Amino acid sequence: MGFSKEWDERYVANSHMSIWPWSDLVSYVMRYARPDSPAYRVLELGCGMGANIPFFKHLNVDYHAVDGSPTAVSMLNERYPDLVGNILLADFTKNIPIEGSFDLVVDRAALTHNNSEDIRRTIVMIRNLLKSGGKFIGIDWFSIDHSDYKLGEQAEDRYTKRKIVEGQFADTGRVHFSDKQHLIDLFSGFSVDNLEHKILRREIPQNNHVFASWNLSAVKVD
Ligand SMILES: C[S@@+](CC[C@H](N)C(=O)[O-])C[C@H]1O[C@@H](n2cnc3c(N)ncnc32)[C@H](O)[C@@H]1O
Repeated sequence: MGFSKEWDERYVANSHMSIWPWSDLVSYVMRYARPDSPAYRVLELGCGMGANIPFFKHLNVDYHAVDGSPTAVSMLNERYPDLVGNILLADFTKNIPIEGSFDLVVDRAALTHNNSEDIRRTIVMIRNLLKSGGKFIGIDWFSIDHSDYKLGEQAEDRYTKRKIVEGQFADTGRVHFSDKQHLIDLFSGFSVDNLEHKILRREIPQNNHVFASWNLSAVKVD
């Protein structure tokens, strides 16, 4: 299946233009994978509009990223000329065209816009790209407890939905929702050393909406 072209359409339409680092990602990197030198290599899957780039630039690490949206990649190449060649256009479920190995792979709400089979294959690729003892940090992998898991129609498997036309996932292509066992199963080949279920129940306006997602850190098992 691969990359949902709806993401490029969203960026062309000037929506989902997040440009400030995601606080959970900042906390997880500093807590579980704190970089220790400028040679520390980081790969971000699905960097989007580059929200997390200022954080990694501040840490002075060797940052690389892959995204499937031509609009996002060309905008980032303009904004960060020093990263041209490090931010690549690719469908990461098919190919991650970067040489060398990484200390850390991060993903905030990117892999979770693909189906289970593509996610599983990508996690194997990530594992091969990580150094021995390397880390994966995943932020906002949507949960089956999210209200919007009920929306749209089932795609290729029971964890993956498509054709959601309302709410935060409107017109974003595939959205994957996980439960704990599914996540542990996807990350075989890793030791998941931290897993948190974030549940935010909206009280005002009182509409019973629940945002639910998983944050995790995992270490490559040799
Ligand atoms: C919800 S946005 C998140 C963007 C960014 N990580 C952030 O947190 O602001 C999902 C991003 O993942 C990218 N993406 C999803 N599936 C992809 C795939 N198979 N290959 C490449 N990029 C993908 C989309 O293009 C989009 O930029």
